[in-house]
Order: sequence, then structure tokens, then C-alpha cells
Amino acid sequence: MKGFDTPHLLPVLKHPGHTGLYIDNLIFKNREEVFAGSICFCRFLSPEEHKTALSRLQTGEREYYDTIKSEKRRKDYLLGRYSAKLAVAKLTGEQEPDIVTVEKGDSGQPVLRYRSFADIQVSITHTGDFGAAAVFPKTCPLGIDLEKVSPGRAKVLAKKMTDGEKKLLENTNIPRDRGLIMVWTAKEALSKLLKTGFTIPFDMFEISEMTSGNHGQAAVYFRNFPGYKSLFLDLGSYGFSIAFSGALEPGINSAALKEFFLREEK
Ligand SMILES: CC(C)(COP(=O)(O)OP(=O)(O)OC[C@H]1O[C@@H](n2cnc3c(N)ncnc32)[C@H](O)[C@@H]1OP(=O)(O)O)[C@@H](O)C(=O)NCCC(=O)NCCS
Repeated sequence: MKGFDTPHLLPVLKHPGHTGLYIDNLIFKNREEVFAGSICFCRFLSPEEHKTALSRLQTGEREYYDTIKSEKRRKDYLLGRYSAKLAVAKLTGEQEPDIVTVEKGDSGQPVLRYRSFADIQVSITHTGDFGAAAVFPKTCPLGIDLEKVSPGRAKVLAKKMTDGEKKLLENTNIPRDRGLIMVWTAKEALSKLLKTGFTIPFDMFEISEMTSGNHGQAAVYFRNFPGYKSLFLDLGSYGFSIAFSGALEPGINSAALKEFFLREEK
């Protein structure tokens, strides 16, 4: 299930042994239904890879890319779009991931255009050197967020937490720096699932419960959105949250993903 095992994706990779890319399936299920999605994490290991990704942008995407002034923002945009194309290819078996286009919706949300598949959607995040995209059926909405752990960031995030959230965190065995990232990424992931981003009052995203599990995993619940929950994965220098329906159980290969991130740090 790990990346690199998908022959139809190999042509889009410069090197089959590429280490900057992780592509996998995502499964969400309840007793009645199973929803299949996919996820891609990507960083460019060479200027050639950057160039390859750039050549995959469709006209509208390239036009938008050319208007971006900041070098960092350009790279982030490209990483997100490239990850989305590869995630769609993983999910659908598409041989030409270039034909997938991600437009920008009214509130900044990514809008997927892909053949006649009107019923699959995408969530995008970027931070540090990484971009990531999750692709999912519209009947199983998701939101994702990846953040790099850093002391500077922790200071800022601590100011955004409520006293109640601080208390909840103290009652878990999650280290404080991870906990701050967890709370923040859970809120951001939910804001993407809802497609509002942080345009609605920030306190609407208040967290009511958090439970820590094994291997740095934790579940987060929202006071005002009891229908959703968020799964947090501690990925070493990064923290990742994925928000989804509270009625579903996630199937995400967290051990393989963590191994990928730890390998990337070496
Ligand atoms: C959604 C939001 C919380 C993400 O914050 P961020 O610091 O940019 O975080 P990330 O890098 O993890 O995510 C960026 C991605 O979020 C996605 N996104 C942005 N707004 C979104 C929304 N309303 N719903 C779902 N996803 C959204 C985009 O795909 C974006 O990447 P892209 O611009 O390259 O396509 C923040 O952008 C936000 O609050 N946006 C709404 C308000 C706003 O500024 N709107 C701009 C109008 S165009």
C-alpha cells in the first residue's frame, strides 16, 4: 500500500527510487459503507523534479502560477497541485495525471476538475518543504493540515489555545509542542473540510475532547461540530491532522507514513 508500488505512476516520477514522494490509499468505513480515497505527500529533491512538476500544470494553473510573486508561495502552490494530480492518479488509475486540474473556489478552497468525475474532491496543505493532497468522494468529506514543529511556531500557537484546551492537553500524555500542533492542525483541517477556512469565528473550532492513542496518534473532537472528528499523527518534525465524519473509522497507514517522514529527516 506504500508509495512507489503503483506502476502507472512511475512515468511521472523522474527516478523510480524517488524518496521525496509518498502516495497511499485512504479508507474510511462504517458498518454499511466503505469510502476509498488517496493521499500524496511530496517535496522536490532536485531542480529537475521542480521542473517536471511545473510541466504538469494545466494552462489555467500555469497562468495563476505565473502571477505569484513570492518564490515560497509558487513552490507551495506547485507542490499542492502536483500532489493532487498524483493522488487522483492513485485513486482512479488515471494514466495521465496532467489532465487533472485544481481551480481555486470562491473562498480559496481547491476545486478539482477531472474528466467526468464530479464526485471526487481534494484537500491541500503545504508547509516547510512539503505539499500534500488528499482526494476523496464528496460523500465522505475530508480536510487535511500538515505543520512543521518549531519552537517559534509553538509560541504563536499557544496564544491561540483556550484555557479549556490547555487543560485537556495537560490531561493527555502528548508532549506540549506536539499538542499545540495537534490542536492547531485539527482546527485547520476541519476548516478545510467545511470549506470555510478561518473566515468564521475562530472560537467555533473549539475542541471539546482529545484522546491519545499509540505511536503518537490522537483523536480530537469539536464542541460545535459533533459530527466530525480529527485524527492526529505525530510525524517527527511534522504534525498531521485529517478531519472527517465522526461516524467513520479511518484506515490510514500511519506507520508507513511516519517511517517516510523519519527517513526524510535523515
Ligand atoms: C484554509 C486556511 C485556514 C489554510 O491556511 P494556510 O496557512 O494557507 O494553510 P495550508 O498551507 O495548510 O493550506 C493551504 C491550502 O488550503 C486550501 N484552502 C484555502 N482556503 C480553503 C477553504 N476555504 N476551504 C478548504 N480549503 C481551503 C487551499 O487549497 C490552499 O492551498 P492553495 O492555495 O495552494 O490551493 C486559510 O487559508 C483560510 O482561512 N482561508 C480562508 C480565508 C481566506 O484567506 N480566503 C482567501 C480568499 S481567496
